[in-house]
Order: sequence, then C-alpha cells, then structure tokens
Amino acid sequence: MKIYNKIKSKFSPQFKSSVIGIYQCCKVFSYALSDAIHYARYSAVRTPFANESVMSYRIALIYHGIEKGLAMPVIRKNFGEAKVVYLMTFLSIYEKRGYNLKTSVYLSAISALKAYGDYHSDECGRPLVKKVTEFVSRRGIDISNKGAKGGVIAATQTKNLDFKQFDEFFRSRYSLRSYSSRSVTKSLLFDVISTAQKTPSVCNRQSFHAYYTSDPSMAAKILEYQNGNRGFGHQVPALIIITADSRAFFASGERNQCYVDGGLFSMSVLLGLHAAGLGACALNWCVSPSQEKSLKALLRIPVEMRVIMMISCGYPKEDAMVPCSSRRDIGLVASEIKV
Ligand SMILES: Cc1cc2nc3c(=O)[nH]c(=O)nc-3n(C[C@H](O)[C@H](O)[C@H](O)COP(=O)(O)O)c2cc1C
Repeated sequence: MKIYNKIKSKFSPQFKSSVIGIYQCCKVFSYALSDAIHYARYSAVRTPFANESVMSYRIALIYHGIEKGLAMPVIRKNFGEAKVVYLMTFLSIYEKRGYNLKTSVYLSAISALKAYGDYHSDECGRPLVKKVTEFVSRRGIDISNKGAKGGVIAATQTKNLDFKQFDEFFRSRYSLRSYSSRSVTKSLLFDVISTAQKTPSVCNRQSFHAYYTSDPSMAAKILEYQNGNRGFGHQVPALIIITADSRAFFASGERNQCYVDGGLFSMSVLLGLHAAGLGACALNWCVSPSQEKSLKALLRIPVEMRVIMMISCGYPKEDAMVPCSSRRDIGLVASEIKV
C-alpha cells in the first residue's frame, strides 16, 4: 500500500485522470461490443420468423402501418397493398405454427385488416380487397371482442384536465428515498403498470416490461445489484424493474430503441406512482454486461431483455425530505429552430 501511494503521489492529477480516461475508453468499446453482440444475437435482425414473440412484434409493426394509413389526413385509396399481403402471409404462418390466437396483437391485426377491407368496401371487386375480406371472415373472429382493437377511432381531447393542473401535478413529483414502512399493494403496482401501457412506443411494438415486487426483503436483495441506493435500499417497500425486449427490433438502426421505449415507459410508471400517492425514485442501471447477466439469471428475466432501470417506491415517511433538484435555466433547454 505504501509503495502504491508513493507511485500515486509521483503523478500529477492530470496524468492520473488521463490514464483513467484511457481505461474508461477501453471499457466503453468492450461494453459497446457486448451490446452489439447481444443485439445481433437476440433482436430480430436475423430472422423475423424465429418464434412467437418475434413474429408477434413483427405483426404489430405491420398492422400498425395499416392503421396509420387509415388515419392520414388524406387516405390514399388502395394504400399499403404490399403491407396487407405481407400481414396476411405473416398471420398465416403464425396460425400454422399453432401460436396463441387469443392475444391482443393477433386479434388487433385481424381487426385492422377488417378495417382496411371496410374502408375499401366500394371496391369489393378488387382482388386484394376480396382476399382481405375473405381472410377476415374465414377466421370468424368477433371483432367487437375486447382484445380486438385494430383500425381507427375518433381522436378525443381530454376534457377534465387543463395544462395548469398538469403542470402542477408534474412539478410536484420528486424522487423520494425516505419511505414509511406502510406496505404497497401488488394490485396498486399492477394498476400503475397497466396505465403506463399507454406509453407511446415505436410502431406500437410495446417492447417494455415491468417486473415488480412489494416484498421489501426481495427489493433489498435485488438492490444489492444496483449502485445508487446506499442509505435507503434496505428500506424500500416496493421495487419495479423496467426492461425492454430486444426481440421487438428488426433493424440495425433500431439498436438503441429498447432504451428509448423503455425510458418513456419508465417515466409513465413514475408519473403513475406519483398520481397514486406513492413516492418513487428512478435507479440507474449503469452496470457492466456481466452484472446485467447476473441480475437476469437471479430473477429469471429472459436473456433477450435489456434492463432499463429500477424504480423504488413506497409511501413517503412523515418527515421525508427531498433534494431541491432545481432545473437548469430554460434557455439551456429550449431553443427555437431558426435556420
Ligand atoms: C435514469 C435515472 C437514474 C437514476 N438513478 C438514481 C440512483 O441510482 N440513485 C438515486 O438516488 N437517484 C437516482 N435518480 C434520481 C435522480 O437523481 C433525480 O431524478 C434527479 O436528481 C432529479 O430529481 P427529481 O426526480 O426529484 O426531480 C435517477 C434518475 C434517473 C432518471
């Protein structure tokens, strides 16, 4: 130790930070390589037909394209013909493999095809429109079924909340690290997660997933894998782990989409917890690939998932304080585009 300190004292702080910088850069490349390997291996870039999950995400992507076409300011007649054919091919393969026909994705895809057929009903003689209509009716699915919500609906504006109320609600959220011992019910966590499902996601693929526990000892055990809960991790009443599924992504350009969709979903969960009267704290998942592997093995989270963050939550302790966490000047955050 003495020798180590002697060597350490011989170098200037600038030199030492440069060495650390080089070491960190090497790690950046090694982690990035590991991320690339994970994406190439577990996303759907290599095959969109690999299994039920992958096909289900792809079906969502295609049928949503049809819905979008039906929601354009001016709808092009016979738009998206290739997409419609592709969707029917996909659905046929999905069915032949005996995959689940009761999922909301499958039912919504059929329902979107029906909406396409209905929109083009004045052209029922057209071969593709005929094919779509037959494809849908052959399946004999009750489109009024709750799970089958494909196509378009009238856009509505919220009537009960004005921006001032939203602003007040949004600004009253703080990261809470001091929780009371009052337990959090599983059903409340479930409701919050369920509402957060309305989070927008790329092509409505909804790659996100929330693993939750309202068992404080389980939360404490999990938090041993996270670097950022010192001083409060042992007293967390409930914990949510947000993940996103690499299998939802099909292109090289989508390699970071897990983090975008998962991040948005996390914010929805945080706001939902706040609305439910709970305090919460987002917890970073800034770890090495091997740490992520260990956590997934412990909790039996599928390897295809990427961990986005953890969220601790609970009712605030009576005397709880929170950091001011003031925001930067708005001028540093908002700029009008002027070219
Ligand atoms: C992705 C993310 C990771 C975070 N990780 C931690 C963490 O590990 N430990 C912690 O105490 N707070 C963590 N925070 C909370 C931030 O410190 C906090 O959001 C920020 O200071 C702003 O304060 P506010 O949430 O009270 O508005 C994290 C926040 C985010 C969004």
